[in-house]
Amino acid sequence: MKILITPSILSADFGRLQAEVDSIEPFADWLQLDVMDGHFVPNLSFGAPVVKWIKTKLPLDAHLMVSNPSERIKEFSAIHCKNITFHAEVVKETSARKKLIEDIRKTGATAGIALNPATPLDEVEDVVREVDLVLVMSVVPGFGGQKFMPEVLEKVRQLRSKFPGLMIQMDGGIDSKTAKSAIRAGANNLVAGNFVFGTPDRKAAIESLRGS
Ligand code: DX5
Repeated sequence: MKILITPSILSADFGRLQAEVDSIEPFADWLQLDVMDGHFVPNLSFGAPVVKWIKTKLPLDAHLMVSNPSERIKEFSAIHCKNITFHAEVVKETSARKKLIEDIRKTGATAGIALNPATPLDEVEDVVREVDLVLVMSVVPGFGGQKFMPEVLEKVRQLRSKFPGLMIQMDGGIDSKTAKSAIRAGANNLVAGNFVFGTPDRKAAIESLRGS
């Protein structure tokens, strides 16, 4: 299964965002937009009014760390995201989850659901067969540069054994070492912020995540 590397712009220099994206574009597969509302997570990052100015051929992956994801879909559909992920912790009703998945798909994006480290897999039992991607967080969301939490790997292993074709993304503390554990557990889409944007040699950083 191809491993996708998805740098997250959270750790990029926002004063030179286009140049930062240009520096990883030739080597990355997707680009993750860490949208934080300062409510679901303690940090406040950016919304569509900022990211709409980014010019890139990379597919955009909006990770909505927000309390009301349905309110964000319209503005993110305008920037033609490849994927839009919401958090299981803020949309708990199955009917609401299915409506959100449908609304995301109507924008032309695939739909993902994210699980914080403390959220068990069975919390998403109701929609895991409906989504295109499950994001297993390996840090408590809100900030880049945190330490990888290996205890979440079991969730990835269980997901992979039940759903061989599912896109399983991991996000948080991914570096050349933890990437190996993530891939071995069954993740096939790795989000990395600090490890990629924290080094001048982004090509080498991204290639080391692929295991090359
Ligand atoms: C939630 C964010 C971060 C970011 C990647 O905190 O989603 O996980 O994308 O962060 P690092 O720097 O850990 O790769």
